[in-house]
Amino acid sequence: MFLKVAVLPGDGIGPEVTRQAVRMLRVAAEASGVDVRLTEWPIGGAALAAGEPPLPAATLEACLASDAVLLGAVGDPRYDGWEPRQRPEAGLLALRRALGGFANLRPCACDDALVGCSVLTSARARGVDLLIVRELLGGLYYGEPRGVDADGSAAMNTMRYTRDEVARVAHLAFAEARQRRHRVTSVDKANVLETSRLWRTVVSDVGRAYPDVSLDHQYVDAFAMQMLLRPGDLDVVLTGNLFGDILSDEAAAIAGSLGLLPSASLGGRVALYEPVHGSAPTLAGTGRANPIGAIACVALLLRHTAGLPDAAAAVEQAVHAALGAGCRTADLVSGSEAAIGTVQMADAIEVALSEALDHRRAYHAV
Ligand code: IPM
Ligand code: MN
Repeated sequence: MFLKVAVLPGDGIGPEVTRQAVRMLRVAAEASGVDVRLTEWPIGGAALAAGEPPLPAATLEACLASDAVLLGAVGDPRYDGWEPRQRPEAGLLALRRALGGFANLRPCACDDALVGCSVLTSARARGVDLLIVRELLGGLYYGEPRGVDADGSAAMNTMRYTRDEVARVAHLAFAEARQRRHRVTSVDKANVLETSRLWRTVVSDVGRAYPDVSLDHQYVDAFAMQMLLRPGDLDVVLTGNLFGDILSDEAAAIAGSLGLLPSASLGGRVALYEPVHGSAPTLAGTGRANPIGAIACVALLLRHTAGLPDAAAAVEQAVHAALGAGCRTADLVSGSEAAIGTVQMADAIEVALSEALDHRRAYHAV
């Protein structure tokens, strides 16, 4: 079996964490008898610096011809003054749209070894295991019209959702809930926004097709608080593009660090895997970035694109083992505690991965 993966390292810490993720992908694929074919392409600030648009045509073409896209991070303070449509981020937003993955899965679990890293008390953080399903191709991010008035005195964005856009992501969220604890919490602002009223109606309608999954609706402001007070009650959290962006960073503080979380954008022509974190320009090049978010993307890729749930579980088990053995990057330590670097963390995970894969192979051989 072949697996064609387009690798888009991007900006800031993107290249350094992606390099470590690719290592794990090679190890896991080889152990599974999969011939993985990787090609690397520029996006974002890296493309702009080379005199190209933030999403070069060749990058898009390669992504569309691949089985999956593995992306590092996009964003560079050099372009902070630039207008949104020309910034590095525009490349990512155009790529998401072209690949078509409308459901952005952001799993967020607090590893037992990291309860001390959570912003919450250990009692609240322990056992948290939620999945944010963020609608990725609609809402305020893409609504038209948008722009700045000619005299600069006002600016506008449009929040728009169609029934179909809500229904398709809702179906995916309910289907995910069936693989988990059979609960969906839908988050909106239906007391104020028409788009949210539509969201709520459509999610309820879709929910009737999943009678084994419980559904509740919450307003986003109250939910932002509830997520901190009772995160253990949450299973699948279904929400729109902007709310999902904000809530996933908040959820990261529960898990212990933004550097830990992966995402998968599914439902389109080609799946896109990217960590939830950004390019972290101040960390770039220091060798201190946490590679776990990127490595966890490889697990999602193995599960959702390659159809290798065992290999995916082995990667997750390896991360868990490295954390359990006390490996900590800078984002996971406090005060004077010693931290290891990006490569050392990946080294530890790779050792554990090889063991986990051997173990699984031996088990299946019996
Ligand atoms: C994310 C990021 C992106 C987003 C940026 C980089 C455009 O914050 O994936 O959460 O807002 O979607
Ligand atoms: Mn974000």
